[in-house]
Amino acid sequence: MSRPLLTVVLAAGKGTRMRSALPKVLHQIAGRSMLGHVLALSREVGGDRLAVVVGPGMEAVRKEALAAAPDAAVLVQENQLGTADAVLAARAVIGAHSGDLMVLFADTPLITAATIGKLRAELDRGAQLAVLGFEARDPGSYGRLLTETDGTLTAIREAKDASPTELQVRLCNSGVMAFRVDAPLDVLGRIGNANAKGEYYLTDAVEIVRGQGGRAAVVVCPEDEVLGVNARSELAAAEAIWQRRARAAAMAEGVTLIAPETVWLSFDTVLGRDVTIEPNVFFGPGVTVEDGAEIKANCHIEGAHIGAGARVGPFARLRPGARLGRDVHVGNFVEVKNVALGDGAKANHLSYLGDGSVGAKANIGAGTIFCNYDGFFKHKTEIGEGAFVGSNSALVAPVKIGAGAYIGSGSVITKDVAADALALERSAQEERPGWAAKFRIMMARRKANQSK
Ligand code: UD1
Ligand code: MG
Repeated sequence: MSRPLLTVVLAAGKGTRMRSALPKVLHQIAGRSMLGHVLALSREVGGDRLAVVVGPGMEAVRKEALAAAPDAAVLVQENQLGTADAVLAARAVIGAHSGDLMVLFADTPLITAATIGKLRAELDRGAQLAVLGFEARDPGSYGRLLTETDGTLTAIREAKDASPTELQVRLCNSGVMAFRVDAPLDVLGRIGNANAKGEYYLTDAVEIVRGQGGRAAVVVCPEDEVLGVNARSELAAAEAIWQRRARAAAMAEGVTLIAPETVWLSFDTVLGRDVTIEPNVFFGPGVTVEDGAEIKANCHIEGAHIGAGARVGPFARLRPGARLGRDVHVGNFVEVKNVALGDGAKANHLSYLGDGSVGAKANIGAGTIFCNYDGFFKHKTEIGEGAFVGSNSALVAPVKIGAGAYIGSGSVITKDVAADALALERSAQEERPGWAAKFRIMMARRKANQSK
């Protein structure tokens, strides 16, 4: 594939059916916006130039586009006059490009790079235009791909303009199109708007290219790849498809998912070999899990690194900046945020570890709290290697516990503790021999007198 590739991503639609303050293409699948998915696809297929067409005033969409693809040209389509008009909003970039042109819709986020490769292969075989089609279960309002008996594409008919016979066709247009033509602006410029919607239809390019003696090809892909998202129910359907794919890929790479359909992955989740994940685990963005780690049921994990052989959960919450070394144990009802736990450290029950560090092999007792916030600022708790923090301790940050130190249970620690020391902060225990027995006799008498 020697010809340079320009990709134009159409993201101007308002998406009114989403009923949202957020522009449609910023809605997320697996923790990344639909636009982000499509821009990642463009990067994966190795385009040379990228243009994103947004609607007027869509600053958030522009920002998202530039965050995902800093070198993209972002162009504004002033009025929504149709898909051909949207592509022409990138007129300047298209005019300056010589090579192939690929049009992607930002609301169609599940297409794979392999499928895009098939479209480009059609151009390599001499087609001037290649359209991505699919056999629709319910063709509804999709454009129909009209073909000759030998499969050659003759036209795309929008549902609103189709005859009853044409509406019978189940082969539909995904919207994705690749052009090889030398002068795409010439083709796009010839598209008119004499149709049922009064819009400039990109799909008319097929007949124009054929009129110029060119061949238009169809590549058929599974319907799941070209699901277009216009409403929240379709967003959920796209999420489900994405998750199914990601779980299958993880299992193929050697991850055990006991109940795959209950595990939710993010677009960037990295799972090592022989990782075991029990049911009902949610991964937000930014999680890496190394080989052999075990994540027990009902955990919520985001922005975290989990070292090899570590054990997390059940019911653990790892928040951004949780960095667990090798063989670390983080058990039930433990929340970790912005804390690095050294190899072999353990916090097995009911704790909040926020902002700081825990040395290798340190043991954090049940109910330990890092008091990291004074209402204005966050402070750090630093615990040395092999330290032992007794249950129900409050460590008021900023505070340092030296290596090998012991903290007596129930202490409120406000001052640094030296290595290998014992720190105890609680009142001395008092004991009154025989008190309970006398108390019981006295109370039993009192009750007997009352009931007389
Ligand atoms: C389009 C196709 C149809 C195909 C369907 C697949 C045309 C004429 N029709 O129809 O054949 O089956 O997609 O989903 O191309 N957009 C703009 N500016 C506009 C109009 C649209 O940026 O002026 C963008 C939208 O944001 C969206 C995409 O282009 O991402 C498709 O537009 P939409 O109006 O949804 O087209 P469909 O009627 O679905
Ligand atoms: Mg649409």
